This record gives sequence, structure tokens and C-alpha cells, in this order.
Amino acid sequence: MMRITIRDIQKMKAAGELIPMLTAYDATSAYLGEQAGVPMLLVGDSMGMVIQGHQSTIPVTLEQIIYHSQIVVRATEKALIIGDMPFMSYKVNSDQAMQNAARLMQESEVGAIKLEGGEFIAPTIERMVQAGIPVMAHIGLTPQSVNQFGGFRVQGKDKDTAKQIICDAQAVQDAGAFGVVLELVPAQLAQEITDKLKIPTIGIGAGPHCSGQVQVFHDLLGLFPSFGPRHSKQYADAGKVMQDALVQYVNEVKAAQFPTVDNSSQMSQDIIDEIHRLWR
Ligand code: KIV
Repeated sequence: MMRITIRDIQKMKAAGELIPMLTAYDATSAYLGEQAGVPMLLVGDSMGMVIQGHQSTIPVTLEQIIYHSQIVVRATEKALIIGDMPFMSYKVNSDQAMQNAARLMQESEVGAIKLEGGEFIAPTIERMVQAGIPVMAHIGLTPQSVNQFGGFRVQGKDKDTAKQIICDAQAVQDAGAFGVVLELVPAQLAQEITDKLKIPTIGIGAGPHCSGQVQVFHDLLGLFPSFGPRHSKQYADAGKVMQDALVQYVNEVKAAQFPTVDNSSQMSQDIIDEIHRLWR
């Protein structure tokens, strides 16, 4: 089966078809996302927070992204899989970026990579695209710069920062990015950028006017019952369902209610007699 390509994603914007995108980190999330009809799965460095339990995405390494990307690629057939370039794996200089993007593509066979940054990273994007590496850009709130921003805050609310985000959007399109994530920017700014750009904009906390939306698997399913960012919608209470099931399992084991005969296999009486003789 032929996988969805970056051209198919771009055609969706041209046809006015909204694009759902989701993160995936393992075989389960990848399988469930693809079965639900998600055309583009991102092996996001958000794994640093939702899988590894860090406070930010900064500790995630290239090796970890490659490892999880290999799993997600293996578990899917149709979706376009995008591998996220982690903190400082592409910003030292463009040679470093090229070498690391090449590793991610070759070792995991993702169909595209994503990196954070606008105008300043555009020359690197251009080099990658010329070398045959499809790039999705990511502007607005770029989580790898959380310490520079002083928190996960909405970006582009004033004139100067809004202008910079517009320049970033234009620069990544001109450099050849096939799409751009707009994270935590005001809805009106996201609408403006979506209308002006030819490439699809994929919003997260960027309002309803983007060409598509991306959500973190765990946020969408409510896997952390005590946490849900404002920009995400919790479509299920899966964390609670799972917690209740686990409590029931613990209780049933303690009460000798699990396993039952139905969950066990049996052997014939003559073999049991044989075994008893062995003990003697
Ligand atoms: O790492 C990630 O999951 C992301 C998306 C939230 C866009 O970058």
C-alpha cells in the first residue's frame, strides 16, 4: 500500500479539506491513529513530557526519536510519518542538521521531518529540501525554546511578535517547507497566515482557521486525568477507564478472583501423577 505523501497533504489544503494530525510514539498509538483515519502522524518530541515524564521536550535525544519513529513506521501502512528533530540536533550549524536529518530518515524511514524555527532556520530548511528531505516547519510557540520564552505562552499577541511570526511563515514556505505547525498563536493571526500561505498550516492552540490541527495523543484521550492543556480537547476519559480497570485487576488478584478456570489451561491427570512421582 502506498503511503500518503507530502503532495497528498498539500492537495488537501488546495481542495479545502481539513487535515487532522496526531502524535504517535509506539505501536499502539500509531495503530489507533491510523485506523481512525489520521493521514499524518508525528513522532513528536512531546514524548519527553508524555512518555518520559520530563517537564519539557528538551531532554529528548535524536536516538530516542529514531527508536520511536522506527516503531511508528513499522506499525503503520498508510499514514505519512513525520519524525521530530529534537533540541539542538539541527541548530549548531546546517551540516549538523543535514547529518542528523539524514540519520532520522535513513534509520527510521520516516517520510518527513519536523523542526522548530522560522526565518533563522530557513537556510537549513532550503538545504534539506534540496537534498530530498521533506520538512515541516514549526513556528509560534516553539517548545524547545520554552526557557527563552519563560513558559508555554501564547506568541504573537503584539504587533512586533505578530510581524515576526508572519515573516517566519513566509520564510519557511519560501525555503520549501511542505507545511508549517502554528503553535499557540492568536486565531486571527493563524487565519491571516493560512490565507496568505500556499502550504498547509497545522494548528495547535491556533484557532479553527488553520488548514489542519495537531493534537498530542495523551491530551486528546485524557490519559493524564489531572492535566489537560487549554488548547486541547479531551475526546475521551481513557485515563480514568484504564485506572478503574487496573484497580479492579489489583482487587481481583488480591481477592483470588483472577485468574479463573477460564483464564487457565489444564493438563491430564496421568501427567499430574507422573509429576507427583518426580517430587518423591
Ligand atoms: O512534539 C510534538 O508533539 C509537537 C506537536 C505538538 C506539534 O511538536
